[in-house]
Amino acid sequence: MRATLGVVTLRSRWDAKVLPGLIERACRSHAILDERRRWVPEARGAVLEVGVGSGLNLAFYDPARAQDVIGIDLSPPLLARAAARASAAPVPVTLQECDAERLAFDRGRFDTVLVTYTLCSVGDLAASLAEIHRVLRPDGQLVLVEHGRSPDARTQRWQRWITPVWRRVGGNCHLDRDVPRALEDARFATSS
Ligand SMILES: C[S@@+](CC[C@H](N)C(=O)[O-])C[C@H]1O[C@@H](n2cnc3c(N)ncnc32)[C@H](O)[C@@H]1O
Repeated sequence: MRATLGVVTLRSRWDAKVLPGLIERACRSHAILDERRRWVPEARGAVLEVGVGSGLNLAFYDPARAQDVIGIDLSPPLLARAAARASAAPVPVTLQECDAERLAFDRGRFDTVLVTYTLCSVGDLAASLAEIHRVLRPDGQLVLVEHGRSPDARTQRWQRWITPVWRRVGGNCHLDRDVPRALEDARFATSS
């Protein structure tokens, strides 16, 4: 019992104190910033950003297209980091603690849902995509940047092998999710 409690304490300290900084550093690489610069300005109208994290996308919204942004995340430490970026953003931003699997918004509320590097980490990918589908208007768009299962069989084996360890230290990040398949199952039509 003592050992179990010890592990729980260590894990929650890791998640609260160490992980937010690591996630932010990993998500600030040049390659990832280039993807943000390319895709975030596509957001238009009323925008929901799912898994806003420390707010690294907020500077890239185009005020000529995006009307306002609600950024949700499960992590209070990351939302606290996002708050400073929200006040400097080019569009009005509201931050809210909320679970992607149970979005606290009405059906058809948003023109755009923007998600970057978050579907790898949600607990239930199908439930999160169903919720995103529900809150989007029928003519709305999901702007998605994600990593996932490699098309190469050898890399897939490596991804399957390392994911159980990786997700424990990496905020539930899965390396091997088949995101295109999950999008199809959730009835999204894809283009890139
Ligand atoms: C790798 S980080 C990416 C953060 C941000 N999207 C970015 O591009 O910098 C994954 C994010 O997903 C959030 N997250 C994981 N599961 C979630 C859930 N069920 N609901 C909302 N946010 C979630 C985490 O707290 C974290 O902020």
